Amino acid sequence: MLFWTLIALASLSTALPAGLTRRDISSDTLDQLDLFAQYSAASYCSNNINSSATTLSCAAGNCPEVQTAKAAPLYAFDDSTQYGDVAGFLAADDTNKLLVLSFRGSRTLGTWIANLNFDLSNSTLCSGCEVHTGFWKSWDTVSAKLTSEIDSAMKDYPGYTLVLTGHSFGAALAVLGGTALRNAGYKPSLYTYGEPRVGNAALATYITNQGSLWRVTHTDDIVPKLPPASFGFSQPSPEYWITSGDNVTVTTSTIQVIQGVGSDSGNAGTSGASIEAHKWYFEDVDACQ
Ligand SMILES: *[C@@H]1O[C@H](CO)[C@@H](O)[C@H](O)[C@H]1NC(C)=O
Ligand SMILES: *[C@@H]1O[C@H](CO)[C@@H](O)[C@H](O)[C@H]1NC(C)=O
Ligand SMILES: *[C@@H]1O[C@H](CO)[C@@H](O)[C@H](O)[C@H]1NC(C)=O
Repeated sequence: MLFWTLIALASLSTALPAGLTRRDISSDTLDQLDLFAQYSAASYCSNNINSSATTLSCAAGNCPEVQTAKAAPLYAFDDSTQYGDVAGFLAADDTNKLLVLSFRGSRTLGTWIANLNFDLSNSTLCSGCEVHTGFWKSWDTVSAKLTSEIDSAMKDYPGYTLVLTGHSFGAALAVLGGTALRNAGYKPSLYTYGEPRVGNAALATYITNQGSLWRVTHTDDIVPKLPPASFGFSQPSPEYWITSGDNVTVTTSTIQVIQGVGSDSGNAGTSGASIEAHKWYFEDVDACQ
């Protein structure tokens, strides 16, 4: 059986000349996008928002690589103040040499989407920039404490790469927090999943020009389309648009890389507005709630 499988694979690979095996992303990039989706999923699990946990784990089974890496939480936070439910963890991953700050999304997604407000405020992040008022205030409630935790982690884990990640509301915090940290001289990589629009075109352009952003969207997920562009909001580039359906394994050939600030060529150009699509990012991302 194995012999015939190998023959079949060999003939398959010769039958598809390199020019026809169109790949939008490399398998390394796919692995990274999958890993940080699992880190984003892990922040929905209450056992991980707990400084006494020794390693991260997901009872829903949606963070196997995080578990295999034996990632350990260094600091957990859960600030359910008026600016809403800011929670997550900073973890050290010795296997992948990472410091990962993961922000949890809303635990009541449907209600959160329905109540999302569209207010913009002037921002000191960059010249001409306007930011979503609520997302910014949420980051602001935790920014000082998280920055000092990152400082001590970077001393304890020299050479580790700092990554900010999150899904949904958590993605908004990751991209805004990451932008603020970059302005303060840090060099985080940002992986966001189903990120809502967090500010105007000037802010989206500024974030785009800073680089090291992997903004992942899925088919017609409603959240990256909110708040609407007509209210003055935009999205940074590039977008990693997953084109395969809900609950379908994501592969290198089902992700398209869309370039351009506020582009309509990916998620934003779809006609649907799906909450189910918002929940599928490599894994059933909010399954732990
Ligand atoms: C946090 O960890 C402690 C000690 O392991 C445990 O007793 C507690 O139930 C945990 N809390 C949550 C929310 O999992
Ligand atoms: C930002 O400031 C400018 C100049 O004062 C003003 O015209 C604009 O309306 C402000 N934007 C917001 C969202 O408040
Ligand atoms: C995907 O899985 C979820 C959770 O098991 C389920 O509720 C949903 O109906 C599934 N969607 C599709 C399209 O199979």
